[in-house]
Amino acid sequence: MNTSEKISVNLGNRSYDVLVASGLLTAAADHISPFLNRPRVVIVTDETVARLYLDPLADNLCAAGITVDQLVLPAGEKTKSFNHLENLCEELLRLQVERDDIVISMGGGVIGDLAGFASAILRRGCRFIQIPTTLLAQVDSSVGGKTAINTKHGKNLVGAFHQPALVLADVGVLNTLPPRELRAGYGEVVKYGLLGDADFFGWLEQHGAKLLAGNAAYRVEAVKRSVEAKAGIVAQDERENGIRALLNLGHTFGHALEAHVGFSGKLLHGEGVALGIVLAFELSAQQKFCNSQDTQRVKKHFADVGLPVSIQDIDGFAATADDLMSHIYQDKKVSGGKLTFILARGIGEAFVAKNIPPARVSEFLKSNL
Ligand code: NAD
Ligand code: GLY
Repeated sequence: MNTSEKISVNLGNRSYDVLVASGLLTAAADHISPFLNRPRVVIVTDETVARLYLDPLADNLCAAGITVDQLVLPAGEKTKSFNHLENLCEELLRLQVERDDIVISMGGGVIGDLAGFASAILRRGCRFIQIPTTLLAQVDSSVGGKTAINTKHGKNLVGAFHQPALVLADVGVLNTLPPRELRAGYGEVVKYGLLGDADFFGWLEQHGAKLLAGNAAYRVEAVKRSVEAKAGIVAQDERENGIRALLNLGHTFGHALEAHVGFSGKLLHGEGVALGIVLAFELSAQQKFCNSQDTQRVKKHFADVGLPVSIQDIDGFAATADDLMSHIYQDKKVSGGKLTFILARGIGEAFVAKNIPPARVSEFLKSNL
Protein backbone atom coordinates (compact mmCIF):
# COMPACT_ATOMS: atom_id res chain seq x y z
CA MET A 1 0.00 0.00 0.00
CA ASN A 2 1.25 3.49 -0.88
CA THR A 3 0.96 6.60 1.29
CA SER A 4 0.23 8.85 -1.69
CA GLU A 5 -1.83 8.17 -4.79
CA LYS A 6 -2.88 9.97 -7.98
CA ILE A 7 -5.97 8.92 -9.91
CA SER A 8 -6.90 10.51 -13.23
CA VAL A 9 -10.48 11.15 -14.22
CA ASN A 10 -10.31 10.87 -18.00
CA LEU A 11 -12.86 13.16 -19.62
CA GLY A 12 -11.05 14.65 -22.62
CA ASN A 13 -10.53 18.39 -22.11
CA ARG A 14 -12.35 18.17 -18.76
CA SER A 15 -9.89 15.59 -17.35
CA TYR A 16 -8.39 16.12 -13.91
CA ASP A 17 -6.42 14.41 -11.17
CA VAL A 18 -7.45 13.33 -7.70
CA LEU A 19 -4.51 13.33 -5.26
CA VAL A 20 -4.87 11.21 -2.12
CA ALA A 21 -2.39 11.51 0.78
CA SER A 22 -1.88 12.93 4.26
CA GLY A 23 -0.69 16.54 4.46
CA LEU A 24 -2.04 17.83 1.13
CA LEU A 25 -3.83 20.74 2.81
CA THR A 26 -0.66 22.34 4.08
CA ALA A 27 1.11 21.76 0.76
CA ALA A 28 -1.86 22.97 -1.28
CA ALA A 29 -0.04 25.87 -2.97
CA ASP A 30 2.36 23.47 -4.74
CA HIS A 31 -0.58 21.67 -6.31
CA ILE A 32 -2.87 24.63 -6.93
CA SER A 33 -0.38 27.21 -8.29
CA PRO A 34 -0.10 25.58 -11.73
CA PHE A 35 -3.86 26.17 -12.20
CA LEU A 36 -3.81 29.90 -11.43
CA ASN A 37 -4.02 32.51 -14.18
CA ARG A 38 -3.39 35.16 -11.53
CA PRO A 39 -2.28 34.67 -7.91
CA ARG A 40 -5.68 34.80 -6.18
CA VAL A 41 -8.27 32.33 -4.99
CA VAL A 42 -11.53 32.38 -3.05
CA ILE A 43 -11.98 29.63 -0.46
CA VAL A 44 -15.57 28.57 0.26
CA THR A 45 -16.00 26.51 3.40
CA ASP A 46 -18.30 25.93 6.38
CA GLU A 47 -17.94 27.20 9.95
CA THR A 48 -16.78 23.88 11.41
CA VAL A 49 -14.17 23.23 8.75
CA ALA A 50 -13.09 26.88 8.87
CA ARG A 51 -12.30 26.61 12.59
CA LEU A 52 -10.12 23.58 11.95
CA TYR A 53 -8.50 24.11 8.57
CA LEU A 54 -9.00 27.59 7.10
CA ASP A 55 -5.88 29.13 8.65
CA PRO A 56 -3.53 26.26 7.69
CA LEU A 57 -4.79 26.34 4.07
CA ALA A 58 -4.84 30.14 3.77
CA ASP A 59 -1.39 30.46 5.39
CA ASN A 60 0.09 27.97 2.95
CA LEU A 61 -1.42 29.78 -0.05
CA CYS A 62 -0.46 33.25 1.22
CA ALA A 63 3.11 32.11 1.87
CA ALA A 64 3.27 31.24 -1.84
CA GLY A 65 2.18 34.79 -2.75
CA ILE A 66 -1.44 33.91 -3.48
CA THR A 67 -4.14 36.39 -2.37
CA VAL A 68 -6.89 34.58 -0.49
CA ASP A 69 -10.51 35.62 0.04
CA GLN A 70 -12.69 33.52 2.32
CA LEU A 71 -16.42 32.84 2.39
CA VAL A 72 -17.61 30.88 5.41
CA LEU A 73 -21.12 29.38 5.40
CA PRO A 74 -23.13 27.58 8.09
CA ALA A 75 -22.42 23.84 8.38
CA GLY A 76 -25.15 21.35 7.50
CA GLU A 77 -27.45 20.10 4.76
CA LYS A 78 -29.74 23.15 4.99
CA THR A 79 -26.93 25.22 3.44
CA LYS A 80 -27.56 23.47 0.10
CA SER A 81 -30.44 25.88 -0.59
CA PHE A 82 -31.53 28.52 -3.11
CA ASN A 83 -30.89 31.21 -0.44
CA HIS A 84 -27.31 30.22 0.19
CA LEU A 85 -26.68 29.72 -3.52
CA GLU A 86 -27.88 33.25 -4.24
CA ASN A 87 -25.77 34.75 -1.43
CA LEU A 88 -22.71 32.79 -2.49
CA CYS A 89 -23.01 33.89 -6.13
CA GLU A 90 -23.48 37.53 -5.07
CA GLU A 91 -20.42 37.31 -2.80
CA LEU A 92 -18.28 35.72 -5.54
CA LEU A 93 -19.36 38.50 -7.92
CA ARG A 94 -18.66 41.15 -5.27
CA LEU A 95 -15.14 39.70 -5.06
CA GLN A 96 -14.94 40.02 -8.85
CA VAL A 97 -14.18 36.37 -9.41
CA GLU A 98 -13.49 35.93 -13.11
CA ARG A 99 -14.19 32.90 -15.25
CA ASP A 100 -10.54 31.86 -15.23
CA ASP A 101 -10.11 32.31 -11.48
CA ILE A 102 -10.19 29.37 -9.13
CA VAL A 103 -12.83 28.90 -6.44
CA ILE A 104 -11.69 26.40 -3.79
CA SER A 105 -14.39 24.43 -2.02
CA MET A 106 -13.05 23.02 1.23
CA GLY A 107 -15.49 20.88 3.20
CA GLY A 108 -17.84 17.95 2.97
CA GLY A 109 -20.36 17.17 0.27
CA VAL A 110 -22.57 20.08 1.26
CA ILE A 111 -19.93 22.71 0.55
CA GLY A 112 -18.61 20.83 -2.49
CA ASP A 113 -22.07 20.52 -4.06
CA LEU A 114 -23.01 24.15 -3.34
CA ALA A 115 -19.71 25.81 -4.29
CA GLY A 116 -19.48 23.51 -7.32
CA PHE A 117 -22.95 24.57 -8.46
CA ALA A 118 -22.16 28.26 -7.88
CA SER A 119 -18.98 27.78 -9.97
CA ALA A 120 -21.01 26.08 -12.70
CA ILE A 121 -23.35 29.04 -13.10
CA LEU A 122 -21.13 32.01 -12.17
CA ARG A 123 -20.48 33.94 -15.39
CA ARG A 124 -21.81 30.72 -17.06
CA GLY A 125 -19.00 28.68 -15.54
CA CYS A 126 -15.76 29.32 -13.69
CA ARG A 127 -13.11 26.87 -12.54
CA PHE A 128 -13.07 25.24 -9.10
CA ILE A 129 -10.90 22.92 -7.05
CA GLN A 130 -12.25 20.51 -4.48
CA ILE A 131 -10.58 19.94 -1.11
CA PRO A 132 -12.96 17.35 0.37
CA THR A 133 -12.71 17.00 4.16
CA THR A 134 -15.18 14.19 4.91
CA LEU A 135 -14.70 10.55 3.92
CA LEU A 136 -17.94 10.77 1.95
CA ALA A 137 -16.71 13.78 -0.01
CA GLN A 138 -13.29 12.20 -0.65
CA VAL A 139 -14.70 8.97 -2.07
CA ASP A 140 -17.78 10.28 -3.78
CA SER A 141 -19.08 13.84 -3.95
CA SER A 142 -15.83 15.63 -4.89
CA VAL A 143 -15.31 13.39 -7.94
CA GLY A 144 -17.49 13.19 -11.02
CA GLY A 145 -18.83 16.71 -11.37
CA LYS A 146 -22.34 16.40 -9.94
CA THR A 147 -23.23 19.66 -8.21
CA ALA A 148 -26.60 20.62 -6.76
CA ILE A 149 -28.82 22.16 -4.13
CA ASN A 150 -31.95 20.76 -2.46
CA THR A 151 -35.46 22.16 -2.92
CA LYS A 152 -38.64 21.68 -0.91
CA HIS A 153 -39.43 18.84 -3.34
CA GLY A 154 -36.33 16.85 -2.48
CA LYS A 155 -32.60 16.44 -2.58
CA ASN A 156 -30.25 17.55 -5.35
CA LEU A 157 -33.15 18.42 -7.65
CA VAL A 158 -31.56 21.60 -9.04
CA GLY A 159 -27.97 21.36 -10.19
CA ALA A 160 -25.46 20.95 -13.00
CA PHE A 161 -22.65 18.73 -14.16
CA HIS A 162 -19.47 20.74 -13.64
CA GLN A 163 -16.12 19.00 -13.25
CA PRO A 164 -13.47 20.36 -10.88
CA ALA A 165 -9.98 21.20 -12.15
CA LEU A 166 -8.30 19.22 -9.35
CA VAL A 167 -9.24 17.28 -6.21
CA LEU A 168 -6.96 17.22 -3.14
CA ALA A 169 -8.10 14.46 -0.75
CA ASP A 170 -6.06 14.88 2.42
CA VAL A 171 -6.81 11.82 4.56
CA GLY A 172 -5.12 13.53 7.55
CA VAL A 173 -8.15 15.80 8.01
CA LEU A 174 -10.35 12.76 8.60
CA ASN A 175 -8.84 12.55 12.10
CA THR A 176 -11.11 15.35 13.31
CA LEU A 177 -14.26 13.98 11.68
CA PRO A 178 -16.87 12.80 14.23
CA PRO A 179 -16.97 8.95 14.24
CA ARG A 180 -20.60 8.93 13.10
CA GLU A 181 -19.73 11.07 10.02
CA LEU A 182 -16.77 8.79 9.29
CA ARG A 183 -19.00 5.69 9.43
CA ALA A 184 -21.55 7.39 7.18
CA GLY A 185 -18.82 8.04 4.58
CA TYR A 186 -17.76 4.43 4.93
CA GLY A 187 -21.22 3.45 3.67
CA GLU A 188 -20.28 5.01 0.30
CA VAL A 189 -16.89 3.19 0.31
CA VAL A 190 -18.63 -0.17 0.75
CA LYS A 191 -21.00 0.78 -2.07
CA TYR A 192 -18.12 0.55 -4.60
CA GLY A 193 -17.33 -3.01 -3.55
CA LEU A 194 -20.96 -4.03 -3.68
CA LEU A 195 -21.75 -2.50 -7.03
CA GLY A 196 -18.81 -3.80 -9.03
CA ASP A 197 -15.80 -5.14 -7.12
CA ALA A 198 -16.37 -8.17 -4.89
CA ASP A 199 -12.60 -8.32 -4.07
CA PHE A 200 -12.77 -4.78 -2.69
CA PHE A 201 -15.75 -5.75 -0.52
CA GLY A 202 -13.72 -8.71 0.80
CA TRP A 203 -10.82 -6.34 1.50
CA LEU A 204 -13.16 -4.04 3.42
CA GLU A 205 -14.54 -6.94 5.46
CA GLN A 206 -10.93 -7.63 6.48
CA HIS A 207 -9.62 -4.07 6.89
CA GLY A 208 -12.61 -1.74 7.21
CA ALA A 209 -12.38 -1.59 11.02
CA LYS A 210 -8.69 -0.55 10.76
CA LEU A 211 -9.39 2.36 8.46
CA LEU A 212 -12.29 3.48 10.63
CA ALA A 213 -9.97 3.30 13.66
CA GLY A 214 -7.58 5.75 12.01
CA ASN A 215 -4.95 3.81 10.04
CA ALA A 216 -3.76 6.32 7.40
CA ALA A 217 -2.36 3.75 4.94
CA TYR A 218 -5.65 1.83 4.88
CA ARG A 219 -7.51 5.12 4.46
CA VAL A 220 -5.37 6.08 1.46
CA GLU A 221 -5.95 2.64 -0.06
CA ALA A 222 -9.74 2.74 0.50
CA VAL A 223 -10.07 6.28 -0.90
CA LYS A 224 -7.88 5.37 -3.88
CA ARG A 225 -9.86 2.23 -4.74
CA SER A 226 -13.16 4.09 -4.33
CA VAL A 227 -12.05 7.00 -6.52
CA GLU A 228 -10.65 4.60 -9.15
CA ALA A 229 -14.01 2.85 -9.25
CA LYS A 230 -15.90 6.10 -9.58
CA ALA A 231 -13.48 7.59 -12.12
CA GLY A 232 -13.80 4.46 -14.29
CA ILE A 233 -17.58 4.76 -14.35
CA VAL A 234 -17.69 8.54 -14.83
CA ALA A 235 -15.21 8.33 -17.73
CA GLN A 236 -17.63 6.00 -19.53
CA ASP A 237 -20.84 7.85 -18.69
CA GLU A 238 -20.30 11.40 -17.43
CA ARG A 239 -23.96 12.47 -17.72
CA GLU A 240 -25.57 9.34 -16.30
CA ASN A 241 -27.20 8.01 -19.41
CA GLY A 242 -26.36 4.43 -18.45
CA ILE A 243 -23.74 2.79 -16.25
CA ARG A 244 -23.31 5.80 -13.91
CA ALA A 245 -26.74 5.01 -12.47
CA LEU A 246 -25.05 2.09 -10.67
CA LEU A 247 -23.45 4.68 -8.34
CA ASN A 248 -26.97 5.20 -7.02
CA LEU A 249 -27.02 1.76 -5.39
CA GLY A 250 -28.94 2.25 -2.14
CA HIS A 251 -29.92 5.82 -2.99
CA THR A 252 -33.57 5.38 -3.99
CA PHE A 253 -34.56 3.92 -0.62
CA GLY A 254 -31.91 6.02 1.16
CA HIS A 255 -33.15 9.34 -0.23
CA ALA A 256 -36.77 8.44 0.58
CA LEU A 257 -35.83 7.72 4.21
CA GLU A 258 -33.71 10.89 4.41
CA ALA A 259 -36.52 12.97 2.94
CA HIS A 260 -39.01 11.52 5.41
CA VAL A 261 -36.87 12.64 8.38
CA GLY A 262 -36.51 16.06 6.74
CA PHE A 263 -32.78 15.64 5.92
CA SER A 264 -32.12 15.95 9.63
CA GLY A 265 -29.42 14.51 11.86
CA LYS A 266 -31.71 11.51 12.48
CA LEU A 267 -30.26 9.88 9.38
CA LEU A 268 -27.04 11.07 7.71
CA HIS A 269 -26.74 10.69 3.94
CA GLY A 270 -24.19 7.86 4.13
CA GLU A 271 -26.29 6.08 6.77
CA GLY A 272 -29.30 6.35 4.45
CA VAL A 273 -27.18 4.88 1.65
CA ALA A 274 -26.03 1.95 3.83
CA LEU A 275 -29.60 1.20 4.88
CA GLY A 276 -30.80 1.71 1.31
CA ILE A 277 -28.19 -0.80 0.08
CA VAL A 278 -29.41 -3.40 2.58
CA LEU A 279 -32.99 -2.82 1.36
CA ALA A 280 -31.86 -3.04 -2.29
CA PHE A 281 -30.16 -6.38 -1.58
CA GLU A 282 -33.23 -7.62 0.32
CA LEU A 283 -35.50 -6.61 -2.56
CA SER A 284 -33.06 -8.31 -4.97
CA ALA A 285 -33.19 -11.51 -2.89
CA GLN A 286 -36.99 -11.35 -2.67
CA GLN A 287 -37.17 -11.00 -6.48
CA LYS A 288 -34.75 -13.98 -6.78
CA PHE A 289 -32.04 -11.89 -8.45
CA CYS A 290 -29.52 -12.69 -5.71
CA ASN A 291 -29.19 -15.19 -2.89
CA SER A 292 -29.95 -14.43 0.73
CA GLN A 293 -26.40 -15.38 1.88
CA ASP A 294 -25.01 -12.36 -0.01
CA THR A 295 -27.70 -10.16 1.51
CA GLN A 296 -26.83 -11.41 5.01
CA ARG A 297 -23.12 -10.80 4.36
CA VAL A 298 -23.82 -7.18 3.37
CA LYS A 299 -26.05 -6.67 6.39
CA LYS A 300 -23.47 -8.19 8.76
CA HIS A 301 -20.65 -5.96 7.52
CA PHE A 302 -22.69 -2.76 7.90
CA ALA A 303 -23.89 -3.88 11.35
CA ASP A 304 -20.31 -4.78 12.40
CA VAL A 305 -19.13 -1.22 11.73
CA GLY A 306 -22.17 0.36 13.41
CA LEU A 307 -24.23 1.44 10.38
CA PRO A 308 -28.03 1.09 10.34
CA VAL A 309 -29.31 -2.09 8.69
CA SER A 310 -33.06 -1.85 9.27
CA ILE A 311 -35.60 0.96 9.25
CA GLN A 312 -36.14 0.31 12.98
CA ASP A 313 -32.54 1.46 13.56
CA ILE A 314 -33.62 5.05 12.76
CA ASP A 315 -34.51 6.69 16.05
CA GLY A 316 -38.26 7.43 16.36
CA PHE A 317 -38.96 6.71 12.67
CA ALA A 318 -42.66 6.52 11.77
CA ALA A 319 -43.88 6.33 8.16
CA THR A 320 -46.33 4.44 6.00
CA ALA A 321 -45.32 2.74 2.78
CA ASP A 322 -47.32 5.45 0.94
CA ASP A 323 -45.24 8.17 2.60
CA LEU A 324 -42.05 6.55 1.33
CA MET A 325 -43.52 5.80 -2.11
CA SER A 326 -44.31 9.50 -2.61
CA HIS A 327 -40.63 10.31 -2.00
CA ILE A 328 -39.54 7.47 -4.29
CA TYR A 329 -41.55 9.04 -7.13
CA GLN A 330 -39.32 12.16 -6.86
CA ASP A 331 -36.24 9.99 -7.60
CA LYS A 332 -34.25 11.29 -10.58
CA LYS A 333 -34.31 7.82 -12.15
CA VAL A 334 -38.11 7.88 -12.49
CA SER A 335 -38.86 8.02 -16.20
CA GLY A 336 -42.29 8.20 -17.79
CA GLY A 337 -43.66 7.69 -14.27
CA LYS A 338 -41.92 4.27 -14.08
CA LEU A 339 -39.64 3.28 -11.20
CA THR A 340 -36.01 2.31 -11.73
CA PHE A 341 -33.95 0.66 -8.99
CA ILE A 342 -30.35 -0.39 -8.73
CA LEU A 343 -30.53 -4.03 -7.67
CA ALA A 344 -27.89 -6.77 -7.37
CA ARG A 345 -27.33 -10.28 -8.72
CA GLY A 346 -24.78 -10.75 -5.95
CA ILE A 347 -21.91 -8.92 -4.24
CA GLY A 348 -20.10 -6.85 -6.89
CA GLU A 349 -22.89 -7.34 -9.45
CA ALA A 350 -25.28 -4.41 -9.37
CA PHE A 351 -27.58 -3.73 -12.32
CA VAL A 352 -30.22 -1.23 -13.42
CA ALA A 353 -33.71 -2.69 -12.95
CA LYS A 354 -36.32 -0.75 -14.90
CA ASN A 355 -40.09 -0.98 -14.59
CA ILE A 356 -40.22 -2.47 -11.09
CA PRO A 357 -43.97 -2.61 -10.33
CA PRO A 358 -44.80 0.04 -7.69
CA ALA A 359 -47.20 -2.36 -5.90
CA ARG A 360 -44.30 -4.78 -5.34
CA VAL A 361 -42.10 -2.03 -3.90
CA SER A 362 -44.94 -0.83 -1.70
CA GLU A 363 -45.56 -4.38 -0.37
CA PHE A 364 -41.83 -4.78 0.22
CA LEU A 365 -41.73 -1.53 2.20
CA LYS A 366 -44.78 -2.53 4.26
CA SER A 367 -42.98 -5.72 5.28
CA ASN A 368 -40.00 -3.62 6.43
CA LEU A 369 -41.88 -0.96 8.41
P1 NAD B 1 -21.35 17.62 5.22
O1 NAD B 1 -20.73 18.38 4.14
O2 NAD B 1 -22.56 18.18 5.87
O3 NAD B 1 -20.25 17.34 6.34
C1 NAD B 1 -20.63 16.66 7.50
C2 NAD B 1 -20.26 17.43 8.78
O4 NAD B 1 -18.87 17.25 9.01
C3 NAD B 1 -20.47 18.93 8.69
O5 NAD B 1 -20.97 19.37 9.91
C4 NAD B 1 -19.07 19.49 8.46
O6 NAD B 1 -18.93 20.78 8.98
C5 NAD B 1 -18.23 18.51 9.23
N1 NAD B 1 -16.87 18.34 8.75
C6 NAD B 1 -16.43 18.29 7.48
N2 NAD B 1 -15.14 17.97 7.43
C7 NAD B 1 -14.74 17.84 8.71
C8 NAD B 1 -13.50 17.48 9.31
N3 NAD B 1 -12.44 17.13 8.58
N4 NAD B 1 -13.43 17.45 10.67
C9 NAD B 1 -14.52 17.72 11.42
N5 NAD B 1 -15.73 18.03 10.91
C10 NAD B 1 -15.82 18.07 9.57
O7 NAD B 1 -21.77 16.14 4.77
P2 NAD B 1 -21.09 15.06 3.82
O8 NAD B 1 -21.51 13.76 4.38
O9 NAD B 1 -19.68 15.30 3.56
O10 NAD B 1 -21.85 15.28 2.43
C11 NAD B 1 -23.23 15.04 2.30
C12 NAD B 1 -23.72 15.75 1.06
O11 NAD B 1 -23.02 15.27 -0.07
C13 NAD B 1 -25.19 15.55 0.79
O12 NAD B 1 -25.78 16.79 0.52
C14 NAD B 1 -25.21 14.67 -0.45
O13 NAD B 1 -26.34 14.91 -1.25
C15 NAD B 1 -23.95 15.10 -1.13
N6 NAD B 1 -23.41 14.10 -2.06
C16 NAD B 1 -23.10 14.52 -3.32
C17 NAD B 1 -22.55 13.64 -4.22
C18 NAD B 1 -22.13 14.10 -5.58
O14 NAD B 1 -21.80 13.27 -6.42
N7 NAD B 1 -22.10 15.39 -5.81
C19 NAD B 1 -22.31 12.31 -3.84
C20 NAD B 1 -22.64 11.92 -2.55
C21 NAD B 1 -23.19 12.83 -1.66
N1 GLY C 1 -22.96 9.93 -6.28
C1 GLY C 1 -23.50 9.46 -7.51
C2 GLY C 1 -22.82 10.00 -8.72
O1 GLY C 1 -21.87 10.76 -8.62
O2 GLY C 1 -23.20 9.67 -9.81
